[in-house]
Amino acid sequence: MTNARALVYLITTVLFIYGVMRLRNPQQARSGNTLAAIGMLLALIATLVGVSIHRPLILVIGIVVGGVIGALSARLVRMTSMPQMVALFNGMGGGAAALVASGDVLRLVPHANAGAADLTVALLDILIGAVSFSGSLIAFAKLNEWMTGRPITYTGQRAINAIVFGILVLGGAYLIITGDAHQGGFFLAYALGAIVLGLLGVFPIGGGDMPVVISLLNSFTGLAVAATGFLLKNDVLIVAGTFVGASGAILTQLMSRAMNRSLGNIVFGAFGQIQTHGSAGAVDGTVQETHAEDVAILLSYASRVVIVPGYGLAVARAQQEVKELMNNLEAKGVDVRFGIHPVAGRMPGHMNVLLAEVDIPYQNLYDMDAINPDFPRTDVVLVVGANDVTNPDARNNPSSPIYGMPILNVDAAQRIIVLKRSMNPGFAGIDNPLYLNPKCQMLFGDAKQSLNQLLQALNEVVV
Ligand code: TAP
Repeated sequence: MTNARALVYLITTVLFIYGVMRLRNPQQARSGNTLAAIGMLLALIATLVGVSIHRPLILVIGIVVGGVIGALSARLVRMTSMPQMVALFNGMGGGAAALVASGDVLRLVPHANAGAADLTVALLDILIGAVSFSGSLIAFAKLNEWMTGRPITYTGQRAINAIVFGILVLGGAYLIITGDAHQGGFFLAYALGAIVLGLLGVFPIGGGDMPVVISLLNSFTGLAVAATGFLLKNDVLIVAGTFVGASGAILTQLMSRAMNRSLGNIVFGAFGQIQTHGSAGAVDGTVQETHAEDVAILLSYASRVVIVPGYGLAVARAQQEVKELMNNLEAKGVDVRFGIHPVAGRMPGHMNVLLAEVDIPYQNLYDMDAINPDFPRTDVVLVVGANDVTNPDARNNPSSPIYGMPILNVDAAQRIIVLKRSMNPGFAGIDNPLYLNPKCQMLFGDAKQSLNQLLQALNEVVV
């Protein structure tokens, strides 16, 4: 039985590796996901078959309830709510790892010869898992607007967080040295302290930075799961946990780099506290407004058009209209490309997922480095609900909070049309001088409505 189980775990590991490799390419990502899920199912079956389970009914109820909730929420979730769903699922993973480790601590400690190494791993597991659990719940609440998305800060915050962390380290050391965890509430206090640390750690981070925080916490959950694997001597948990830990860490680094911010700045910088200017006309200078009919004529006579989608496209849920626009223009012989910024929207791959949803061909999608050299020979750039990722201050203004962030150089194109509702800023809360560029015109309105008007106007244009 042990050999058969080891063999299935090996197959699972191969499926995980192969599945993750396929995630690198959008065309293969779906099958990669399925392969990894099959691997997980095999691992579950191999783990459960041939062992005596104390109360099997509880297990069955857990699997059915969890499976139904997971399947329903994955089917029903709206694309704009995906980051909070990931936060919630991640929190559950961290919480589960912490609970398994808690069971182990209570099992290990009463024995006089409890291994200090196992206990250390279990306590680390509880610390990381509980921080991930409570931190993810706050991330969920912020993203779901159940609490303010603004950073919650107070005097001495970092010192208080450091003290709580210090107490947990000392408390953990005490438990390991004395083996006293089974007595009284000391162990419970340790677990609760870890939950509090997660809450305190995420309070000062702004709602917009949550995707990076979720990715970081996801990495923590992976480490907690790997630690659980060591405790339970389960290879497949070690492999899966290490995968999640490493990929979460890499993703966190990639996102921070794409925003040109250090992880320290994201976690400790209370970004998002900058007051948004918020009112129409907040940018000094002349902003030119345009109308759907004029844009339709401009587009009809263009040879090359680049569409730059941003967070506003997700809010307006205008991906279908964008596709119809692409089809309409291509039928007129216009070359249409999409310029995708790595942190456009609010989660990694946000724009790719939206555009894939309506089957926009992958070959029309160009990432930032590939599309930037094309802008000077582009007749019209259509910026649909994007703002920060096109802000030339990131290139030109050293005093700007986003200075140094790589951007889509849309200002190099011949004409720029921006679809947004007002002069309100985007995530970074700063004005965008692009809108004062003499080559730029604003088509104000909800992106879905503006695109529909544009499509109607395009049908009336006779070239
Ligand atoms: P933003 O800079 O946030 O701008 C989005 C714009 O969309 C807003 O200015 C808004 O202007 C407009 N908008 C909102 N609803 C709209 C609607 N219904 N119709 C038309 N326009 C609408 O978005 P971006 O350019 O995609 O940049 C992303 C930002 O998020 C960056 O600063 C990035 O650093 C940050 N961020 C990204 C991630 C990831 S992983 N993607 C993670 C954390 C942070 P109006 O209100 O005037 O319409």
